[in-house]
Amino acid sequence: SADSTQATAPAPAAGTVSLLRRLDHIDPSSLGSYRAAGGYEMLRRAITLGPQGIIREVRDAKLMGRGGAAFPTHIKWDAVAGNPVRPHYVVCNADESEPGTFKDRVMLEADPYALVEALTIMGHACGAEQGYIYIRGEYPTAEARLAHAIGQARAHGFLGADVLGAGFAFDIEIRRGAGAYIAGEETALINSIEGKRAEPRNKPPFPAQSGLFGKPTAVNNVETLLSVLEILRVGGPAFAAVGTEASTGTRLFCLSGCVAVPGLYEYDFGVTLRDVIDGAGGVAGGRPLRAVLLGGAAGVFVGPEALDMPLTFEGVRAAGATLGSGVVLVLDDTVDLTALLRRITQFFRDESCGQCVPCRVGTVRQEELVARLVSGTPLGSVTSELALLSDIGSVARDASICGLGQTALSAVESAVKLGLIGADS
Ligand code: NAI
Ligand code: SF4
Repeated sequence: SADSTQATAPAPAAGTVSLLRRLDHIDPSSLGSYRAAGGYEMLRRAITLGPQGIIREVRDAKLMGRGGAAFPTHIKWDAVAGNPVRPHYVVCNADESEPGTFKDRVMLEADPYALVEALTIMGHACGAEQGYIYIRGEYPTAEARLAHAIGQARAHGFLGADVLGAGFAFDIEIRRGAGAYIAGEETALINSIEGKRAEPRNKPPFPAQSGLFGKPTAVNNVETLLSVLEILRVGGPAFAAVGTEASTGTRLFCLSGCVAVPGLYEYDFGVTLRDVIDGAGGVAGGRPLRAVLLGGAAGVFVGPEALDMPLTFEGVRAAGATLGSGVVLVLDDTVDLTALLRRITQFFRDESCGQCVPCRVGTVRQEELVARLVSGTPLGSVTSELALLSDIGSVARDASICGLGQTALSAVESAVKLGLIGADS
């Protein structure tokens, strides 16, 4: 299970950066237990620093968003904080739906107060009095624990009209998704909170300029917000000293597929793919590694030759890969890759919101094309099919409104490059 690797982990040392520090060491239903483990000390520190001081720490930490796009968090927060239009909103995106991703579920079930505290800090930094947590509908346990944590925080003055008597108001509401992958795209998520269909908006304007109800809004995912707590705990420069120059801090990885011990792992940026797989006990049964799907269905396949690639934003970019949401799906030599590829194409066909043509039609064409390739019935030749796939891919990348369409063909295109499909059919 995703939790299994954490059960025996000792509590990390105070000076280290660790998002998992409280996992299995606190009672997730108890505010007292969270506080005994240092909970809410970061909010006190944040109040002392003030909004600009918080943003300065986040800037010094060089924190980049962990949702997949790696945008500098302080720029987003600063854009909202400095926007004269009122009110401001902050939103936590906990709608993790990327296949192979389960880090939010583990963190929210085990450490819900941490997100409540972190979102309060974000609200204070951005000058917002209202925050929303948009959680995946399939996570009822996480939602119940979060709701309980919010209620307890409110009852003890950590949320409400005068947070900790510091002279600012902040409260949080939960919104639940209804099973659509696209609702995790930030502007679709904003539409959903407004009660509209979860369809992405054109960007710009970015939510920082015009977001929820047309007001300045900062949206960050769960891992990014939990990193902010660690930044305030160790200080921005100390956080920046972990990892590499361009990828600071730690990263959560969701290990699944053919590994001995699947689960959630945390490493300093810079760890290699080989180390991450070995850390999960290596390929199950000692079988040969065939490929790794990095970053989920919206990610790319890499082969065994990529094992020494450092898992940093810059390292994967140089290799034409992506960290995406931290998925490391390991595939050995017995896996039916054609079935997996077909499943990925069906997924995007189903999950495209249908709003723009390159994605709505391109995902259907991709699905048909891959079905033809894997069944050995290409239209014309394999070469002409691959040329068509490449055409569909570039149009979808260039002309889709949102990241779904822009990345819907990445996995299949990378599989072609690696010779996992289309080579000898
Ligand atoms: P993006 O590059 O458009 O934006 C990234 C963030 O920076 C957004 O919050 C955006 O509002 C903000 N931003 C960008 N420019 C800005 C500016 N000038 N001023 C203020 N804010 C600005 O990327 P997007 O579409 O939000 O995310 C795409 C990523 O999502 C992909 O890399 C993909 O890997 C990832 N993804 C993650 C999934 C998950 O389950 N975590 C699922 C699917 C995709
Ligand atoms: Fe919808 Fe796809 Fe267009 Fe995104 S790219 S807005 S999912 S049709």
